[in-house]
Amino acid sequence: MDPVDTEQGAQSSSEQSPLLGAQTSSNDGHDEPPPTPPEGKKTALIWTVLTGLFAVGLILVFTLPVTDWADPFPTPESILDSAPVIDGHIDLPELVRVYYANNVSAFNLNERMPGHVDIPRLRKGKVGGFFWSVYVSCPKDAGPDFVDPTWRVRDTLEQIDVSRLLIEQYSDTFELTLTSQEVKDAIWNGKIASLLGVEGAHQIGNSIAVLRQFYTLGVRYMTLTHMCHNAFADSGGYLEPLPPLHGGLSKFGYRLIDEMNRLGILVDLSHTSDQTAEQSLKYSKAPVIWSHSSARAVHNVSRNVPDYILESIKTGSNDAVVMVNFAPFYVAPDGKATLESVVDHVEHIGNVAGRQHVGIGSDYDGIGSVPEGLEDVSKYPALVTELFKRGWSAEELRGLTGGNLLRVLDVAERVARELQKAGTPPVLDIYDKRTDLPVERLNVDSPT
Ligand SMILES: *[C@@H]1O[C@H](CO)[C@@H](O)[C@H](O)[C@H]1NC(C)=O
Ligand SMILES: *[C@@H]1O[C@H](CO)[C@@H](O)[C@H](O)[C@H]1NC(C)=O
Repeated sequence: MDPVDTEQGAQSSSEQSPLLGAQTSSNDGHDEPPPTPPEGKKTALIWTVLTGLFAVGLILVFTLPVTDWADPFPTPESILDSAPVIDGHIDLPELVRVYYANNVSAFNLNERMPGHVDIPRLRKGKVGGFFWSVYVSCPKDAGPDFVDPTWRVRDTLEQIDVSRLLIEQYSDTFELTLTSQEVKDAIWNGKIASLLGVEGAHQIGNSIAVLRQFYTLGVRYMTLTHMCHNAFADSGGYLEPLPPLHGGLSKFGYRLIDEMNRLGILVDLSHTSDQTAEQSLKYSKAPVIWSHSSARAVHNVSRNVPDYILESIKTGSNDAVVMVNFAPFYVAPDGKATLESVVDHVEHIGNVAGRQHVGIGSDYDGIGSVPEGLEDVSKYPALVTELFKRGWSAEELRGLTGGNLLRVLDVAERVARELQKAGTPPVLDIYDKRTDLPVERLNVDSPT
């Protein structure tokens, strides 16, 4: 979700409902239905062979440095068939909240949806999986220490509910996946792997216990901040940086990362300040992600990742993947965002951090406008085609579309297993600004 809740509080209605008016750009009305297996003996045989090749491709992508014996003359199409897109950030749950008040019976994902995402367009775009963002906005009323009650934990639970209900309701298409292996298996079975991501630590109500429960509900990344500071870390603001509060991570923020590492929740650094990102990249025992962020050297807004951090991904010891955001206001000057400008961001991050550290995090359904040529989830093949023309190899492209993310997720899971095996205890720290805990001990003789 970008942008929303700028600190200035001067929200236009389009910032509060950033999707309104997003319906016009790409409504060509010619979307193809999801592919169905051909009928008849002969075509059935061909289908089996094709499925076999698809499977072989998958094995190659996700396990080996690719030797292209199965695909000696790769095309953008064949690359995507063997390595479909896994997008780091899609705001369909937020669209369901804004448009339908979370009534998952009020629309049909098999038909044209008002935003950028529906099943026919996901299939046309060769999507193999995505993180469903269970975003809710920054509170305006939490007070300077963030301790005043807000509805953010309730609202996050509602967005998790919406996501899980939809994944269940359309189980022919979607599958809730909790590990990198489950993602690969779901794609193998022709499903769209569905992961959950929380977009800001303001959504856990200052409580690491809440994070643990989000994990049990399926959440596999959390962005440390949205566009506001919180008890754990400083935000990077929107177009301009915010004055820092903690100078990056707070002490409690370091403990949060300890617990994310122990659980196996990816640390997501999109939206964070440079200091937060720098400190977290160094501190986290597991690889980190930017679920939806572009390059500041290509377009200078604080929401994008600066070169010195991209360089530290290349030279540092921690693995990471920066998944490029398509939001026009992060990609190019007003009115200038195109497919080519998004590709420029991909190339820049590839050049500075290394091509094995780039991914795709479109922010579809969370942005009101879209770049020309990348109007919705059906357009990923155009992105891959442009990079193919610019000389990216099949192996590099398979990393971009999903392989790099799966590598990082895989290692994060291993780190969590190792920490748990070593007996690392859960983080029980309580936010020091809270006044409700500890509770004064009750006297058993005086009933309450
Ligand atoms: C949800 O949407 C359906 C279809 O529009 C409608 O029949 C139903 O009454 C709605 N449910 C609620 C609780 O609003
Ligand atoms: C980028 O923008 C910031 C303000 O957000 C400014 O301080 C900085 O000088 C700009 N950098 C370049 C290279 O223009």
